[in-house]
Amino acid sequence: MDKEVTLHRGLQGVYFDRSETTFIDGKEGILEYRGYNINDLAEHSSFEETSYLLIYGKLPNKEELSEFDAMLKSYRKLPEEIFDVINVVKDSHPMDALRTTVSALSSFDEDRNDNSEEATIRKGIRLTSQVATIVMAHHNIRNGKEPIDPSDKLNHAGNFLYMLNGKIPDQDTIDLMDKDFVLHADHGSNASAFTARVVAGTSADIHGAVTAGIAALSGPSHGGAAENVMQMAKDIGNPENAENYVKNLLVNRERVMGFGHRVYKAEDPRAGHLREGVRKLSHQMGEPEWYQILEKVVEAMSPYARRGIHVNVDFFAGVIYYLNGIPQDLFVPIFAVGRIPGWTIQVVEQFRHNILIRPLLQYTGKRKQGYIPISDR
Ligand code: SDX
Repeated sequence: MDKEVTLHRGLQGVYFDRSETTFIDGKEGILEYRGYNINDLAEHSSFEETSYLLIYGKLPNKEELSEFDAMLKSYRKLPEEIFDVINVVKDSHPMDALRTTVSALSSFDEDRNDNSEEATIRKGIRLTSQVATIVMAHHNIRNGKEPIDPSDKLNHAGNFLYMLNGKIPDQDTIDLMDKDFVLHADHGSNASAFTARVVAGTSADIHGAVTAGIAALSGPSHGGAAENVMQMAKDIGNPENAENYVKNLLVNRERVMGFGHRVYKAEDPRAGHLREGVRKLSHQMGEPEWYQILEKVVEAMSPYARRGIHVNVDFFAGVIYYLNGIPQDLFVPIFAVGRIPGWTIQVVEQFRHNILIRPLLQYTGKRKQGYIPISDR
């Protein structure tokens, strides 16, 4: 075996580079995008403004924001050929269809042969709009319906919900979806952003990096939790069952979805904003039991808070999507829709001071084996 080495499985606690984008204090539960606290951004900003902040490093003035918003709107339509790709994968899970379609998009992007920072940012802004359209186009196509043309009358969140079924949502619903996208826009070197950086580290392009990021996000340990939390709430059925349900999971050493985090050992500051959204929406919709079930799960998990296991951003998000009539298997794609600006700036940061990301594995297998001809095996 190699000389004694210190292993950091999962790269837990390892700093592999510097970044000026997102600050996370896991102990105190603090999250800042470009130094602005997530609580302020969730309350006062918009997905468009937050995306500009992440990408350009400053809050836009009125003119900059209106130009950026017009650019996003101009990129919402997909190249016609992409609908053929979506048709081919129409029966795939929406995350698999999204991964495939984003990869295909690179062939139709006017900047496909340009890996400069300016072109990468343009491609990232295009992807921010196109990914939202792809998710809802695939949803309609898999149900045998015509995709709904994006509207340029609505903001990013409103247009996203509008493309689900052609109905314009009420302002409260749009505002809550917008807040959800702000809360999901970036989060440091989470598994999908790290994956995107590894791909950018080889000087591959942003379409390859985002395709790989989508693949990483689709796993239940990362983005897939929101879909599983909703399933858990349905399996629990009513608030009285929550405590026993959680106890059974824990006795069987299973994970309670929407809880725990590699970095946060205090409550994820994003969760509280969505918790309030679930409380209001489930009462408005006349289905308060969903909020009550989630609160009972939080109560049942309270002993784990002492071990630093709290709710994370995915715990409440799923019920919001469900109450908005969004199918469960679109919950993870919604996470991807919000995360594109984050992946974009992470790829740009990687390109700025690029280095191949290539860690080591400690070899523990056999050594110096003599080759044996097949006749003697
Ligand atoms: C996101 O990284 C990011 O920034 C991600 C994210 C982002 O914005 O990009 O914040 C979004 O991905 C949120 C996480 C969504 N995933 C889930 O909700 C799935 C359930 N959570 C876990 O699987 C888990 O908490 C992880 C994967 C999120 C983090 O796990 P770690 O850091 O690898 O910790 P671990 O698996 O080593 O667990 C440490 C201990 C274990 O107990 P022991 O074996 O030491 O006795 O905590 C326990 C675990 O069993 N534990 C849980 C638990 N999470 C951890 N026990 C029950 N339920 C859980 N959810």
